[in-house]
Amino acid sequence: MKFFLDTANIDEIREGASLGIVDGITTNPSLISKEGRDLEDIAREICDIVNGPISLEVVSTVSEEMIEEGRRLSKIHKNVVVKIPMIREGLKALHVLSQEGIRVNVTLIFSASQALLAAKNGAAIVSPFVGRLDDISLNGLDLVSDILTIYENYDYDTEVLVASIRHPLHVLEAATMGAHIATMPIKVLNQLLKHPLTNIGLQQFLADWENQKKLESTE
Ligand code: E4P
Repeated sequence: MKFFLDTANIDEIREGASLGIVDGITTNPSLISKEGRDLEDIAREICDIVNGPISLEVVSTVSEEMIEEGRRLSKIHKNVVVKIPMIREGLKALHVLSQEGIRVNVTLIFSASQALLAAKNGAAIVSPFVGRLDDISLNGLDLVSDILTIYENYDYDTEVLVASIRHPLHVLEAATMGAHIATMPIKVLNQLLKHPLTNIGLQQFLADWENQKKLESTE
């Protein structure tokens, strides 16, 4: 399973990358706005830190403009994946961009039918938002499972990127299903590696080691 960080914050990206397990980055207009910096500057900086797909989202909602924006974003760096929202105009833009060989991540996926249409039009990646579905009492991971089954039935190459992850169980259950990518906030990445018994065990090992050393030095 590939691990992406869902952030445009350079400090968080450096922190995640230093662990050696970050394969890519997803951003969205909310995450970019939070940084208060120019999108292209942020994108270039991210590409210098992480050598993997970096999703940058268009903000136009009319297909011709989405296509132009997508082309422009894709020229920033070879690792840029253009993020297009799953709306009617987005589907048209996806068709054109994917024909041109531009990798597209179709975002804001909330149903399996949307994911099917995105795959048919050549999406490289689809992003089902599990947390936002859970928030309205629908099971986000059921959606991931349905999409994986459909893609397997028809041999689609489109990768399923589990988005809107809120906690480690989202990642583990998505991995159990065989989802290709999980994008998560740095907090969830850190939660995945922590276990209280690891800390307790290590403290005990080190204390035993020190005690033995003291005993040996007084003999
Ligand atoms: C995915 O690419 C989105 O940026 C993201 O996962 C949305 O997550 P949220 O629901 O926590 O905003």
